[in-house]
Amino acid sequence: MDVNGTPYRSIWLAKNGWQVDIIDQTRLPHEFVVARLSTLAQAATAIRDMLVRGAPLIGATAAYGFCLGLREKADDAELGKIADTLVDCRPTAVNLRWAVQRMLAVLTPLPRSARVSTAYKEAAAICEEDVVTNKAIGRHGAGLLQDIWKKKGQHGPVNILTHCNAGWLATVDWGTALAPVFRAHSDGIPVHVWVDETRPRNQGAHLTAWELVSAGIDHHLIVDNAGGHLMQHGEVDICIVGTDRTAASGDVCNKIGTYLKALAAFDNKVPFYVALPGSTIDWQVTNGVGEIPIEERDSEEVLVVRGLHDDKIEGVRIAPADTPAGNPAFDVTPARLVTGLITERGVCPASRRGLSSLYPKRENDA
Ligand code: MRU
Repeated sequence: MDVNGTPYRSIWLAKNGWQVDIIDQTRLPHEFVVARLSTLAQAATAIRDMLVRGAPLIGATAAYGFCLGLREKADDAELGKIADTLVDCRPTAVNLRWAVQRMLAVLTPLPRSARVSTAYKEAAAICEEDVVTNKAIGRHGAGLLQDIWKKKGQHGPVNILTHCNAGWLATVDWGTALAPVFRAHSDGIPVHVWVDETRPRNQGAHLTAWELVSAGIDHHLIVDNAGGHLMQHGEVDICIVGTDRTAASGDVCNKIGTYLKALAAFDNKVPFYVALPGSTIDWQVTNGVGEIPIEERDSEEVLVVRGLHDDKIEGVRIAPADTPAGNPAFDVTPARLVTGLITERGVCPASRRGLSSLYPKRENDA
């Protein structure tokens, strides 16, 4: 996607061919800063501290983190250590495990001397596939937006509510939940996005809003609690969100607060869609609520709000000094609340049967 007229991805190889550049997402929307990763430790920190975030981008960064780790040491014992270091960074997004397992499967049978160059090729392939996948999600999802626009008699914009950031910054390019929005916009379908601010880290306010401003797409930022009210008043035509892990049953695990939006959508008969690449499906999980590990993050993220003050990014404490906080980072939306899943292979019901119809071979992986 373009940033001030220059095309960017969220991660790329530096000109020297081995270091890895990322956009430091902790600084957006106030500063556009490119950070350079040279070691496995730096890649792990970038994932853990959320300089990069979003399930597909975490997977892509882990793949390049693998390359950086192998440059340091490429023997057999090291492969397992690198994998453990990366997988431990964030527990919920299954793409992290998926990317690391894919790297391990390709690299383990190779002699030590061939590992580094092959690792870079595989990491690049993961990134390229992610772009193609998300573009296809955009195409399938835009079809849904077009149908809604037709039903509205081609009057007014299609109003989409989204939660967190599942835009191009959460992937290598295009995004998942926002890919249909970008595609519909470029196809000339008028769209307007309700952007949940997404406390506590405000990925909606910081990242989704920034992406939409950059793309010139009509939107409004809303507090997390406003969605239900807007749905009751017919202001939302469709919800589209991303997912960090999709159970084989069609349950989806996404940023905390997604479940409440799905409940409100269900109550108001607003279609609730989840956009995902196949790499997000965990065929081993049959019950999302009990089986998906939910990341608990630092309570400071809840107690301190970060923003721009006097041209500096600062934190402001919003609760009494002695108040403790809980910070579960994700929740699970049961499949029964999900209207459909938008994948790179098409749209399907949120169910094992629906997913198996699109991914017949993958189901056997479970
Ligand atoms: O904690 P984050 O910012 O990594 O959470 C990201 C999300 O919840 C996204 O919705 C999800 O990863 C899907 S991204 C395409």
